[in-house]
Amino acid sequence: MPMRVGIGILGGGVVGGSLARRLLGDRASISEKTGLDLELVKVAVRDIDKDRAFPRDYVTHRLEEVVDHPDVDLVVELMGGLEPARSLILRALQAGKPVVTANKELVAADGPALFDTAAAKGVSLLFEAAVGGGIPLIRPLMESLAGERLTRVLGIVNGTTNFILTAMDEGGTSYEAALAEAQRLGFAEADPTADVSGADAAAKATILAGLAFGVWVDQGQVHREGIERLDRGDLAFARQLGYVVKLVAAADRNPTGVSVRVHPTLVPRDHPLAAIRGATNAVFVEGPAIGQLLFSGPGAGGEPTATAVLGDVIDAARELLAGAQVAPRIRFNDRAVGDITSNTTRWYIRLEVADAPGVLAAIAGVFGSAGVSIASVWQEGRGDDATLILITHEGPESAHREAVKQLMALDVVKQVAATIRVLLPES
Ligand code: NAP
Ligand code: HSE
Repeated sequence: MPMRVGIGILGGGVVGGSLARRLLGDRASISEKTGLDLELVKVAVRDIDKDRAFPRDYVTHRLEEVVDHPDVDLVVELMGGLEPARSLILRALQAGKPVVTANKELVAADGPALFDTAAAKGVSLLFEAAVGGGIPLIRPLMESLAGERLTRVLGIVNGTTNFILTAMDEGGTSYEAALAEAQRLGFAEADPTADVSGADAAAKATILAGLAFGVWVDQGQVHREGIERLDRGDLAFARQLGYVVKLVAAADRNPTGVSVRVHPTLVPRDHPLAAIRGATNAVFVEGPAIGQLLFSGPGAGGEPTATAVLGDVIDAARELLAGAQVAPRIRFNDRAVGDITSNTTRWYIRLEVADAPGVLAAIAGVFGSAGVSIASVWQEGRGDDATLILITHEGPESAHREAVKQLMALDVVKQVAATIRVLLPES
């Protein structure tokens, strides 16, 4: 006889709608496979008149009704945002109900406090879908790799921006058209600024860094550059030079602590990340014993994300029935956050300059005095002006910043038009 577990969902949009439909349609097959009878009880939404992928009978606009319902044993939060999601999750945990969420914004902002509450109540808070959509990534980091001294986590963790950059690079699609299509396909956040500004990737990088290094970084301390100000010209120059531009998130240890950052990055065309197209995500996890692992798959979209949520629901339901917390407890130490200027880096720099004798020498002099070595230079003249593109060798981020500061002060440099970091090899 399968064991019944009542499920309440907060949010019936792209992911919540897919999950509700799957719980109803796959109830028998899930039961056959797991011995669990997962019964959908209620789904809370804002607009109860909207057409949904599941029957209307389940819909309510009363959020507390889902959490407090006596038939709801387990709560799934798929609304997004900080409030009221945070209060509702705490309310469920306080009531001893396990919670599954895909809300990276909330987990990044408040993870340790939420995990502590869950641990104190002896129930789980699971969040596999918060990073990498349908890719199993959180569980491997927390469980399979718990004994590895990880050195770097790096990759593409936002489907919307990768979809936009791929469409611009391959199809010549405009930024606006590509973003609208990503929204239509359900990849983008309710406010897509979170995607294009790098905030969504920064939240995910924070979670990955927390699990890999045991340090939870405040969102304000994540170095973040989005794709909104990327110039199409730089995508084209990058292509000519054998690179593709990706929004890369990375976390590693530098001499000052754990550094977490998100920024556009030039990736060599023959690197595996260059082949990651559309809404696909890919994350490298590196450590001395394991070398390099690559996790890749659909990073956004209702169906793949609902699969990750469903996996957590099944785990949490098993835990409920076992009467014990099976999910590992998460411990964090201090907040030793690394200063990005202590990182090693490599830059692509586009300068708009006067096309006159001595200009190149003046620019080379600046790089020399800042201690940055130039790897290659390209020049494209246009009458009295020229575009100069330089790629530097690996060196300190602080020295690169100093070089750019000095370039801005040179009379012959009309504009430092772009600075984009170049992917560094495995550390
Ligand atoms: P969505 O399509 O915007 O759905 C949000 C749902 O929550 C909607 O049903 C909305 O109601 C409901 N809702 C929001 N605020 C509410 C409130 N105050 N009261 C009642 N209902 C409220 O969002 P989504 O794409 O499914 O994303 C949900 C969560 O999953 C977010 O945390 C997101 O970051 C995360 N996530 C999404 C994806 C993805 O590919 N979409 C992937 C991984 C993780 P209405 O339907 O009536 O508006
Ligand atoms: N908006 C997010 C993305 C959804 O595009 O990656 C998946 O977390």
